[in-house]
Amino acid sequence: MRTQVGIVGSGPAGLLLAEILRCNGIDAVIVECKSRAYVEGRIRAGVLEQGTVDLLREIGVAHRLEQEGLVHDGVDICLDGDRHHINFRELIGKTVVIYGQTEITKDLIQARLAAGGNILFDAGEVSVHNLDTDKPSINCVINGSRLRIDCDFIAGCDGFHGICRDSLPAGQIKTFGQTYPFAWLGALAESVPPSKQLIYVRSSRGFALFSMRSRTISRNYLQVGPDEDIGQWPDERIWQELAQRLGEEHSACIDAGRIVEKSITQMRSFVAQPMRHGRLFLAGDAAHIVPPTGAKGLNLAAADVRCLAGALKQYYQSGSEDVLHKYSATALNRVWKAQRFSRWMTSLLHIYPAQQDFENQIHQAELDYVLSSKAALTSFAENYVGLPYH
Ligand code: APR
Ligand code: PHB
Repeated sequence: MRTQVGIVGSGPAGLLLAEILRCNGIDAVIVECKSRAYVEGRIRAGVLEQGTVDLLREIGVAHRLEQEGLVHDGVDICLDGDRHHINFRELIGKTVVIYGQTEITKDLIQARLAAGGNILFDAGEVSVHNLDTDKPSINCVINGSRLRIDCDFIAGCDGFHGICRDSLPAGQIKTFGQTYPFAWLGALAESVPPSKQLIYVRSSRGFALFSMRSRTISRNYLQVGPDEDIGQWPDERIWQELAQRLGEEHSACIDAGRIVEKSITQMRSFVAQPMRHGRLFLAGDAAHIVPPTGAKGLNLAAADVRCLAGALKQYYQSGSEDVLHKYSATALNRVWKAQRFSRWMTSLLHIYPAQQDFENQIHQAELDYVLSSKAALTSFAENYVGLPYH
């Protein structure tokens, strides 16, 4: 098989890249190791920056998002039971939209298949080759048969555990990262969210987040230990803990409905750079991971592929690789700023182990300061709604 851009991975990064390319008349094939049902069933975050919404609109896949997405003017932060609203619209004239990443994935798959685009699901033994040449290829097994896809370029959109990053020659890429001494327990429930706002909570019992997927589906999170066993968290315990962290004054609004999915996610910050080797370009989680507190994961992936698609478009229009050469530096500029913000927001809202009690006090003081300063709130708003693209 032959294509212009071979894409490994049909998460948001791979799917979005393929759609932007299609809108620009550039051919792509996506190779995905999981099934369509698996990809469409994964529950993940749901806050979209304005830039991500605009991008989805530009490529014509924002139909359902326009109808079902919930526009949020800001978020609430609750510090030891004391609740504050941070209004992004008033501070900087911008908003975010709540719309599940699962739904974006479904919309993108549907749009691609309806337009006759190719997604090779359930691909086995995926590998990438000849990255240092102008004829790279993706090898895989589809329905028991070996397939080689010859490409002009390969986009490694195969997430943190994918094969693309590890296919680069040793020493070609430098990685940076840190893990956190806690994890998030996420619970999706058939319950009316306690507020129209997202509520980020810092309490002495740990962090909590009240989010939503719709007016009747809530998505809530609790800070738990890094090795926590989900088996120790029956539904009643989750609801009780959420209520305690939110505090007596507000917890009466919690509707403890049926929890339909719960899981524990480790927290880590990670960057691989450069995001390119030869004709392989990394995008999204394959190149970087942020802790979810700043809601940046999907938005960063969208910013990467927006930039990569622009560079590929330039190449196919002019034959010049100038913009492709700048891809890694341009993407990383934004990635590091989002890393900074995600770690900062994580540190302010979580409780670290007792050995770091000095830091815990400093974080509490900093959060208290942020909530009292228009300058600090403006900086928070600018970062949360998304920094400008280059
Ligand atoms: N071959 C083919 N596909 C692969 C391989 C492989 N060897 N390994 C992984 N994949 C697929 C995964 O099954 C997944 O569908 O690559 C896709 C990667 O998708 P994501 O993990 O969603 O990563 P990305 O598209 O970069 O999304 C970034 O989505 O999941 C969130 O936290 C993430 O919010 C961030 C955003
Ligand atoms: C979510 O709705 O899943 C969500 C919202 C905000 C975050 C992280 C996750 O910071």
